[in-house]
Amino acid sequence: MARLGLLLLCVACVFLASSARPNPSPVYSQPSASTSKPGPILTNGRNYTYVCDRERFASLSLNVDDFGYCNKSLSFAERVADLVGRMTLAEKIGQLGDMALGSDRIGLPPYNWWSEALHGVSFVGHATYFGDIVPGATSFPVVILSAATFNESLWKKMGEVVSTEARAMYNLGHTGLTFWSPNINVVRDPRWGRTMETPGEDPLTVGIYAKNYVRGLQDVEGQEVTADLNTRPLKVSSCCKHYAAYDLESWLGVDRVHFDARVTEQDMVETFLRPFEICVKEGDVSSVMCSFNRVNGIPVCTDPKLFNQTIRGDWGLHGYIVSDCDSLEVIKDDHKWLGDTEEDVVAQAFNAGLDLDCGIYYTNFTGPAVAQGRVRESSIDNALTNNYMVLMRVGYFDGSNLYDSLGTKDICTDENMELAADAARQGLVLLKNENNVLPLSLEKIKTIALVGPHANATDVMIGNYEGVPCRFSSPLDAFSQEVKVNYQLGCDVHCKNESLIFSAMEAAKNADATLIFVGLDLSVEAEWIDRTDLLLPGYQTQLIRQVADVSKGPVVLVVLSGGVVDIEFAESNPKVGAIIWAGYPGGRSPLTWYQTSYVDSIPMTSMKLRPIDELGYPGRTYKFFNGSTIYPFGHGLSYTTYNYTVRTSANHFSFKIPSGRYCPPVNYTDGAYVPPCPSAVVDFLPCSDNLSFEVEVANIGNMDGGHVVMVYSKAPDTILGAPSKQVVAFQRVYVPAGKSTVAKFDLNLCKVFGIVESSANIVLPAGQNTVIIGNSDTSVSFPVQIDLEYELYA
Ligand SMILES: *[C@@H]1O[C@H](CO)[C@@H](O)[C@H](O)[C@H]1NC(C)=O
Ligand SMILES: *[C@@H]1O[C@H](CO)[C@@H](O)[C@H](O)[C@H]1NC(C)=O
Ligand SMILES: *[C@@H]1O[C@H](CO)[C@@H](O)[C@H](O)[C@H]1NC(C)=O
Ligand SMILES: *[C@@H]1O[C@H](CO)[C@@H](O)[C@H](O)[C@H]1NC(C)=O
Ligand SMILES: *[C@@H]1O[C@H](CO)[C@@H](O)[C@H](O)[C@H]1NC(C)=O
Ligand SMILES: *[C@@H]1O[C@H](CO)[C@@H](O)[C@H](O)[C@H]1NC(C)=O
Ligand SMILES: *[C@@H]1O[C@H](CO)[C@@H](O)[C@H](O)[C@H]1NC(C)=O
Ligand SMILES: *[C@@H]1O[C@H](CO)[C@@H](O)[C@H](O)[C@H]1NC(C)=O
Ligand SMILES: *[C@@H]1O[C@H](CO)[C@@H](O)[C@H](O)[C@H]1NC(C)=O
Ligand SMILES: *[C@@H]1O[C@H](CO)[C@@H](O)[C@H](O)[C@H]1NC(C)=O
Ligand SMILES: *[C@@H]1O[C@H](CO)[C@@H](O)[C@H](O)[C@H]1NC(C)=O
Repeated sequence: MARLGLLLLCVACVFLASSARPNPSPVYSQPSASTSKPGPILTNGRNYTYVCDRERFASLSLNVDDFGYCNKSLSFAERVADLVGRMTLAEKIGQLGDMALGSDRIGLPPYNWWSEALHGVSFVGHATYFGDIVPGATSFPVVILSAATFNESLWKKMGEVVSTEARAMYNLGHTGLTFWSPNINVVRDPRWGRTMETPGEDPLTVGIYAKNYVRGLQDVEGQEVTADLNTRPLKVSSCCKHYAAYDLESWLGVDRVHFDARVTEQDMVETFLRPFEICVKEGDVSSVMCSFNRVNGIPVCTDPKLFNQTIRGDWGLHGYIVSDCDSLEVIKDDHKWLGDTEEDVVAQAFNAGLDLDCGIYYTNFTGPAVAQGRVRESSIDNALTNNYMVLMRVGYFDGSNLYDSLGTKDICTDENMELAADAARQGLVLLKNENNVLPLSLEKIKTIALVGPHANATDVMIGNYEGVPCRFSSPLDAFSQEVKVNYQLGCDVHCKNESLIFSAMEAAKNADATLIFVGLDLSVEAEWIDRTDLLLPGYQTQLIRQVADVSKGPVVLVVLSGGVVDIEFAESNPKVGAIIWAGYPGGRSPLTWYQTSYVDSIPMTSMKLRPIDELGYPGRTYKFFNGSTIYPFGHGLSYTTYNYTVRTSANHFSFKIPSGRYCPPVNYTDGAYVPPCPSAVVDFLPCSDNLSFEVEVANIGNMDGGHVVMVYSKAPDTILGAPSKQVVAFQRVYVPAGKSTVAKFDLNLCKVFGIVESSANIVLPAGQNTVIIGNSDTSVSFPVQIDLEYELYA
C-alpha cells in the first residue's frame, strides 16, 4: 500500500538532497592537451596539481632538487623548516593572511586558505567557485537536521563524501584543501540566528557530531592513527569553530563584535569548551578558529590562556589556529580593546598563539610590529611552521596517489546524493501524530491542498554556508508526481497581510488532506540576525488556524526552520493532526522547544546555564530549564511503538580515597545526608571502570522503524546545582516491526557520572546516581550506587 506519510518523508529528503545528476554543462569541453587542464596551481600559464612538480619549478627557471622542502626523503618538519628558512621577512609576512601571496623566487605559489564545507562544499570563502565543469556539489541537510538523526556512522560518512567531492573539486581548481567547518558552538539560547549550522544544545552531542564529521573529512583510510600525529596524513583539513562561548549575533543593540560574554568557569568547562575538547582530543582536528566576542573581558583571539594554552597545551592540537575573518580588526575597531593600535593587536595575537589571520591585519601590520620590537621573527616562524605542516599533511606539496585522480565523475554521484537524502529522511522529527494521522494512505487521498510559504521551497531548504546543490526538488514538485495537488501560497514568510489566506482555505475545504508548510528563512534567522521572539512571523499562525479550521481532510503541519518556533497553538489544536519539523526540508529534536514567553524571562546576553534566582532568570537547555516546554529536548515520535528491556551488570562501585586527598564539597538540599567524602575529582581517580549495560529495543508496533536510544545520567537527587539530567550516550538502531535488537553500551564510569562542580572540577558524586534510558514517558532507569570512602591507613 502506498503511504503518503512515507512519501512526505521522501519529499522532505528529496528537496534537501539534491537528488539528480547535474546536466553536463555545455561549457565543459574535454581537455585536449595537458596544457589546458584545469587545476589548483596556476604557474606561468599552466596548471599543476601540486607544488613540488619538477616542470613547475623548471617553468620558474628553478631546479626542484635544490629545494629541501620538496625532498620527500626528509621529514615534514625538516621540509617545513627548509621552506620557512628560505623566506625573507617580507615573504614570511606575505604568507600570514588567508590569501597567502606565495613567492616565485622560492617556487611557492599563492594559496587561498579559506574554504568551507559545513554541509557540502560551500561557495563561502575565497577559494571555492562553482560553474563550468563543476556546476554543483552534493548538499547535505542543514546541520541541525542531520544532528537530529543521532546517527554517528552517518555523520562520519557525510564527512567522507564531502571530502571526496572536495578533493575532486580541488583537482579541478575549484576549491582549496583547508575547510573551516564544522561550526560546533552549543545552542545556549533559542534566539540564536546560527542554530541551523550547529548540532544543537547538548555539548556531548555536539562534540560527538564534531568528532565524526571531522574524522570523515580528514582521515585517510588506514592512517587514522600514526606514531607522530603531527605528521598524520589528511584527506582535507577541517577546523572546529568558533572558539569560544560564541552564540550571539545581534540582539537588541548588542552584537557579536562588541559582546563580552561573562562566563563562569563551571559553564566554560561543562558547556562551552566541551565540544572543542572532544573535537581536538578525539577528532584530532587540524585547526581551531577563534571567535569575534570577548570572554570575561578579553577578546578570545588575544587570550593566551583560553586560546593557545588550552588548545595546544592542555588538549594537544596538531595543527594551526586561525582567526575568524576580520576578527583582529574587530578587536581594535569594535571592542576598542585596551585602546590598541593595529600593531598592539597583532603582537597580542602572536602572543596568544594565533597562526593565521583571516583578514589583512597580520599581512599589513606584522612588519611595523616587528620593527617596533613587538613581535619576534621566531614567533612568525612558529606560526608559519604550524600552517605549513598542515599543508604538507594534506599533500599540497607532493600530491596524493589516493585522491589526485578524483574529478567530475566523483561529484554529485547517485550514491552521494542518496546519502544526503537518507540524512534528511533520518533527521525529520515527528513532533505530533494524533490518532496516527500519518502516514496518510494514497488509497484514500486523491487530492491534497498544499499551502504555506514553504510549500514550493527550494533554496530556503539548504540554509546558509551552502554550496550550489546538484539539483533542487520542492515539496510541490515531489507531491505533484504522486497525487493531484492544489497549491496555494497563502502567505509568504513575512506574511504582512491576510490577502492570500482565503484561497488557501478554499483549497483546504476541497481536498482530501491538507499539508501546510510554514517556517523561517535566512531573512529571519541567520548569521548577524538573532530573533527577539519565537513566533512564526506575520500572519503565518493565522494561516495555519484558519486553514486547519476549514480543512475537509486531515491536516499535517510541516515546520521548516533552524531554530525552534512556538507552535503550541498547533500542538493543542485538534484540527492539526500531525506536525513534522524539518530543519529546512525519525530523528529526535536536538533542541528544547521553548514557549515564546521564555525569551521575555531572560536576556540573550545572560550566559549562565543555571537559573539565576536573584534575577528571576530561568535555566537554559534541557539540563537546567525546569519550566514547561512545547517539546522537550530529545522529543521525536514514531509511526511505531518500542519497548525497552534493560540488562545491567555491576551497578555498585566503591573507591578508596587516600586520606590526605581533598574531596570537593557539593551542595545538598536542606537536611539531606552528607557523606564524609561527598565527591572525588575524576582526574585523581583510577577511573578505569566501565558501566556496561544492554538495552533490548522491541518494536511492538506495525511498522519498521529507525529509533534513537538516548542515555542520560542523573546525579543523586539531594545534590543542588547538578543538571536535571545529561546526555551520556546515544545509539541509533533499526528495528523491523515485531522484532527486537540490542543496543550495547560500555561507558567509562567517570564520563557517565562526572559532573562539573562550582569550581569547575569534574567530580564523581557519592550516592545513588541514576541512568535513564529514553525520553520522559517511555523511559526506563536504573540506579548506580557510588561509594567514596577514605582509606584510613594509606
Ligand atoms: C634529499 O634528502 C636526502 C636526505 O638528507 C639526501 O640524501 C638527498 O640527497 C636529498 N635529495 C636531493 C635531491 O637533494
Ligand atoms: C587553470 O585552471 C583554471 C581552473 O582552476 C582554469 O580556469 C584555467 O583555464 C586553467 N588554465 C590553464 C592555462 O589551463
Ligand atoms: C602555545 O602553547 C604551546 C604548548 O603549550 C607552547 O609550546 C607555545 O609556546 C605556545 N605558543 C605561544 C605563542 O604562546
Ligand atoms: C592593508 O594594506 C592594503 C595595501 O596597502 C590597503 O589597501 C588596505 O587598506 C590595508 N588594510 C587595512 C585594514 O589597513
Ligand atoms: C515554484 O518555485 C519555482 C522555483 O522558484 C518556480 O520556478 C515556480 O514557478 C514555482 N511554482 C509555482 C507554482 O509558484
Ligand atoms: C499583501 O501581501 C502580499 C504578499 O506579501 C503582497 O504582494 C501585497 O502587496 C500585500 N498587499 C497589501 C495590500 O499590502
Ligand atoms: C524551577 O527552577 C526555579 C529557578 O531556579 C525554581 O525557583 C523552582 O522552584 C523550580 N521548580 C521546580 C518545579 O523545581
Ligand atoms: C515491555 O517490556 C516489559 C518487560 O521488559 C513487559 O513487562 C511489558 O509488558 C512490555 N510492554 C509491552 C506493551 O509489550
Ligand atoms: C554552595 O552554595 C553556596 C551558596 O549558594 C555557593 O556560594 C557555593 O558556590 C555552592 N557550592 C558548591 C560547591 O556548589
Ligand atoms: C545510519 O546511517 C547510515 C548511513 O546513512 C545508514 O546506513 C544506517 O542504516 C543508519 N543507521 C540506523 C540505525 O538508522
Ligand atoms: C571500557 O569501554 C571501552 C569502550 O567500549 C573499551 O575500549 C574499554 O576496553 C573498556 N574498559 C574496560 C576496563 O572494560
